[in-house]
Amino acid sequence: MKYLVFSDIHSNVEALQVLLRWAKRKKIDKYIVLGDLVGYAASPNQVIDRIKRLRPIEVVRGNHDKVATEIEDGNDFNSAALQAAQWTRERLSQVNSAYLKALPQGPRLVDDQFLICHGSPFDEDAYMFSDYDALLAFSSFKEDLCFFGHTHVPRIYVQLPDGRIEMIGFHENGLKIELKAGCRYLVNPGSLGQPRDREPRLSFATYESEKRIITIQRRNYLLRRTQEKILKANLPPILASRLAIGI
Ligand SMILES: [Fe+2]
Repeated sequence: MKYLVFSDIHSNVEALQVLLRWAKRKKIDKYIVLGDLVGYAASPNQVIDRIKRLRPIEVVRGNHDKVATEIEDGNDFNSAALQAAQWTRERLSQVNSAYLKALPQGPRLVDDQFLICHGSPFDEDAYMFSDYDALLAFSSFKEDLCFFGHTHVPRIYVQLPDGRIEMIGFHENGLKIELKAGCRYLVNPGSLGQPRDREPRLSFATYESEKRIITIQRRNYLLRRTQEKILKANLPPILASRLAIGI
């Protein structure tokens, strides 16, 4: 089985189109989305329409999906994020707002094999940035693999059989690992629509479950078009400029 796992699209339909064109040429069996479909960029309805057509086997909600549908008020958001959430809320079609609002909370077990979540398996809104965050997360689930998003940074945490934590970062040539028996893994595919590792290319992961291989890859997309749409929509200009530098 070949899974395509991606996260944090953030209303960036240009990045989503590039990924799905790529995926069409590969033999992807199942699609998984780790939340934050909307927020920040200017194409929320197009992104949701496209995801619905894709029929992923699992989509969990992200914090921006919750604020855009008033499940939460966004009082922990910075002002640009909050403005974008309010802008999104006013523009979501009724049917897309209902779709977003109905997305389940993580973690979810996929095919009885591995977990997915937005932030961390024990708290959908928790950020996993450090070895300690990863250790906390590992202690909260029993499976040997969990995909997470939310930080917008592609990265893999490995828990070795003796309990130690190793972190594998993304290299410009890509990241490919074979899962080893006795080790456990927390995998962040990075962000499709707003990468924050000083690398503006969109980021995603594939998981080949028979071979037990995980690959994280990057692709260029027409980020200038995404920027133009953000500016034309009168969203905060910083949401356009950050895309070019990957922060
Ligand atoms: Fe996000």
